[in-house]
Amino acid sequence: MNPSPLSLLQLGLLSGITIAEDLKLPDPLADASGKPAESAEAWEREVRPLALEKFREHVYGRNPVGKPGDLKWTRQVLEVAGVKDQVIEGHVTFSGPGGAGKIRVLMVIPAAAKGPVPLFLLINNRGPELADLTKPNGFWPALEITRRGFATAIFQVADIDPDKSEGFKDGVHAIFDTAPRGPDAWGTIAAWAWGASRVIDALEKEPTLDARRIAVVGHSRGGKTALWCGAQDPRVALVVSNNSGCTGAALSRRKQGEQLADINRNFPHWFCENYKRYNGKEETLPVDQHQLVGLIAPRLAYVASAADDAWADPEGEFLSCVHAGPVYRLHGKTGLEAGTMPKPGGKLHAGSIGYHLRPGKHDLTLTDWQHFMDFANRHWR
Ligand code: GCU
Repeated sequence: MNPSPLSLLQLGLLSGITIAEDLKLPDPLADASGKPAESAEAWEREVRPLALEKFREHVYGRNPVGKPGDLKWTRQVLEVAGVKDQVIEGHVTFSGPGGAGKIRVLMVIPAAAKGPVPLFLLINNRGPELADLTKPNGFWPALEITRRGFATAIFQVADIDPDKSEGFKDGVHAIFDTAPRGPDAWGTIAAWAWGASRVIDALEKEPTLDARRIAVVGHSRGGKTALWCGAQDPRVALVVSNNSGCTGAALSRRKQGEQLADINRNFPHWFCENYKRYNGKEETLPVDQHQLVGLIAPRLAYVASAADDAWADPEGEFLSCVHAGPVYRLHGKTGLEAGTMPKPGGKLHAGSIGYHLRPGKHDLTLTDWQHFMDFANRHWR
């Protein structure tokens, strides 16, 4: 990785002067009057709701619905040739004013499981073939995850909302958007995050799973989704963002790699309409992405970058973790264990925020998963 002069300057600042002065990041501890909260209780009461509101209003949009009253989970055990672990296929169903929805979930539970096991839930933004257990792959290495003693589950984002800009006529938007859509109406990323929480509604009742140790994992657009899901849903004990980049873990104010004008032009359906007002004016955003990581506190957060993934701004992803630190410290936790970015191949696993920089390109690989599981083992066992 060849850091740009600007990022070198910012990384240099980490050792001494704080980068917040340089980028003028919003203070993640500040309440409505601008004063920093002085205790975790004050932060939870005064700052968390305010920060969530700002992300809803200006970035991801507001969900019109929480858990639908008629949500159901039906499941069956599947026999998969060559797989000794227990494989469960289930469907989360629900309905709203505009019709009914269904999310298919495939789950694998280690054959050797003796008590409730922790779960890694993957938000799959790639093809459904990755959920084929007879064709091992690094994006969802299901049998490697169960070999290490974790259960794992996967669902397709398209079951919640197809990833296309068609005027919000399909997916859960068609089911739940009754009134005309306002400038703060939920976009597709918010819809996927909502869907991940509905999958948790279903899985938290599974007796073989430990509902207190649920990790939600997402790559890239799925990583943006995992962060927004975990920021809002306290049942997520570990949020894993892999190469999530712009409007994921990367700081928007750095304007490195993908910027707001790029993402809003290429993916106009991902965020709310209000977000487009900040195209090219990142410095006027009422929030920045370190506050999103901070909203996961005091739970575990993990951010993974890839060294050759300049579009996702690895340094910006790392710096969000650094600047979420004050929220963790207020809660009596160490955020990142160190403020210096690891070299490619390096990792920081000791604090409640974990980070690694994998050599190579934008992807979710077995190497990334091994880090996620190492981190979970270190903090959960
Ligand atoms: C595009 C997009 C990114 C996104 C990525 C992905 O590159 O610009 O914001 O993270 O797709 O989801 O793979």
